[in-house]
Amino acid sequence: MTTYNFSAGPAVLPLSVKQQIEADLYDWRGTGCSVMEVSHRSQEFIDMATDNEHLLRELLNISDEYAVMLIPGGARMQYAMLPINCSTSNGHAIYAINGHWGKLAMQEAGRFTQVTTTAPVSQEAYTHIPAFDATAVNPQADYFHYTSNETLEGVQWHQVPDSQGVPLCCDMTSDLLTREFALDPFAMIYASAQKNMGIAGITLVIMRHEMIGRSDNLIPVMTDYATYARTHSFYNTPPTFPWYVMRLVLQWVKQQGGVAAMQALNHQKSALLYEFIDSSGFYLNKVDPSCRSEVNVPFWLHDEALNQRFLEASSAAGLKALKGHKAVGGMRASIYNAMPMAGLEALVSFMQEFERTHG
Ligand SMILES: Cc1ncc(COP(=O)(O)O)c(C=O)c1O
Repeated sequence: MTTYNFSAGPAVLPLSVKQQIEADLYDWRGTGCSVMEVSHRSQEFIDMATDNEHLLRELLNISDEYAVMLIPGGARMQYAMLPINCSTSNGHAIYAINGHWGKLAMQEAGRFTQVTTTAPVSQEAYTHIPAFDATAVNPQADYFHYTSNETLEGVQWHQVPDSQGVPLCCDMTSDLLTREFALDPFAMIYASAQKNMGIAGITLVIMRHEMIGRSDNLIPVMTDYATYARTHSFYNTPPTFPWYVMRLVLQWVKQQGGVAAMQALNHQKSALLYEFIDSSGFYLNKVDPSCRSEVNVPFWLHDEALNQRFLEASSAAGLKALKGHKAVGGMRASIYNAMPMAGLEALVSFMQEFERTHG
């Protein structure tokens, strides 16, 4: 039976990437050992890292105005690093909130700088992006932060917010590389690797050089962007294995036709699922259609008493990790780049059959 992994992260990897990891395990690049056992200062690793940065710059159209940094730890490390590095004394930061992760980012930033939000923060799970008056944005703010795709709620921005010239910073952890976008409006974007770029342990930060070294704060060397920009992320021993896996995934994205091809496929996959859910009286998606996510699709059964049976039956049918996050409930299908169309077809046909037998 074919298994499809709908996990929100760590998430599915392309099969060919796993095969390559297996093939490399005993002799990576003629070193006679695995990538996990060689020095990060060896020529083999440096060549791999250089190629990784070239691939990132090519796939995401990153100009020389930006530093590309790979930082140990997850996206949540950036919730602190950003205010520590980019807030000024007596300054403040603006957060636009449309879900769980944005709220956490704002709370962490509030430990280091003053924070305002573009709209009152909801205590409920978000099903839309709150409108805000851009003319009320204080142009003196140090930065403006938002989360392009809220992974739990499945709420995604389909346009870039108007930050009134305030440096725009974005958590793209769940949708980087899944759709095309122009980098130019952004001062900084970041994404941890375990959804669309490989495995946990490393986070990509792309930042305008002029944003680095702005603060008067005393910054620990390991959390200073200048450290990573100056050393090309080779200051201490980096997470070498996640870095190596990232390069394999980037090569795979390129082979598939790049980010444009990923976007087209993600659009088709999510459309199949949303159209089915919307046409059914058995399932429901509560998110405003204008901001539905193309990579995380939450859905509910009208009869929540059937949740457990749905999860057991779907897992037995090879459709794994469909349980929604406990803060939101219901189900969630995460359909990142490495999820093939066949996974969505299998999911929809399972859902049809479950509705037929339980409706
Ligand atoms: C949008 C978003 N931001 C941040 C995080 C936290 O990432 P990490 O666990 O890498 O710190 C997640 C994790 O799922 C996420 O989906």
